[in-house]
This record gives sequence, C-alpha cells and structure tokens, in this order.
Amino acid sequence: MLYSDKVMDHFANPRNVGEIPDADGVGEVGNAKCGDIMKMYLKIEDGMIKDVKFKTFGCGAAIATSSIATEMIKGKPIEEALKLTNKAVIEALDGLPPAKIHCSVLAEQAIKAAFADYYTKKGIDPTPFVGTV
Ligand code: FES
Ligand code: FES
Repeated sequence: MLYSDKVMDHFANPRNVGEIPDADGVGEVGNAKCGDIMKMYLKIEDGMIKDVKFKTFGCGAAIATSSIATEMIKGKPIEEALKLTNKAVIEALDGLPPAKIHCSVLAEQAIKAAFADYYTKKGIDPTPFVGTV
C-alpha cells in the first residue's frame, strides 16, 4: 500500500477544512511543479492558536498533510506552532512516499506564510520568526 492508514484517514476525513473570515493571519503557498495550492487561516488569541483552518486544492497527500498539520498546531502556543516541520508532519502520518514529500513541505510553508502575514499585519518584521517564506 502506497499510503499509510493515517494518510488515508486524513484524506478521506480531513480535519479543520474551511476558512476563518476574521483570521489574524492567512498564508497561501503553491508548488509550481504539480500546481497544487494550499491556504491556511490562523486565529490567534493570547499567544495561542485558537483556531486554524485550511483549504487545499491539491493531491491527497497535500490534503492529508494540511489536515494533520492543523491538528498538530491547534490550541498550541505560537512558539510551538512555529517549530512544526514537514518531518514532524510526515512522522505523524506514519510516512509518505518519496514523491509526496514536497506535499508536506507545502503544509509547513503554508503555516509559516500565515504567521508571516500575522506578524506583518501587526507591523512586526516576520523574518526572525519564520525566516523567508
Ligand atoms: Fe492530478 Fe495526477 S496530476 S491526479
Ligand atoms: Fe504536489 Fe501533492 S503532488 S502537493
């Protein structure tokens, strides 16, 4: 089987799908090669990820990685959410086929892009927090 049960579960029943109309940060990233697009919405309160939602126009692995990534940061402090790596996402999904590793990178980048938007809106340079996205 190409995909783990966890990937199949998050693909078939993705968590936290949708938009947050009054989001504090929105990040959109895409992969030029496959054309997939991922959008992340963050609601932040008292330094915590109060809510997070995503919309992914992409492959099954992109949907599964966005879904599990939202679960991994929801309710967590900002500092912890910023540390989320695509490696941690892959581990949480019990692995991904090599051709699908970039899908998990997209999830990490989308979250970082949403944080970059969050800091920029506050008038803070996001680079020290998220690097260059
Ligand atoms: Fe869309 Fe293969 S490129 S399913
Ligand atoms: Fe490109 Fe999955 S194939 S994000």
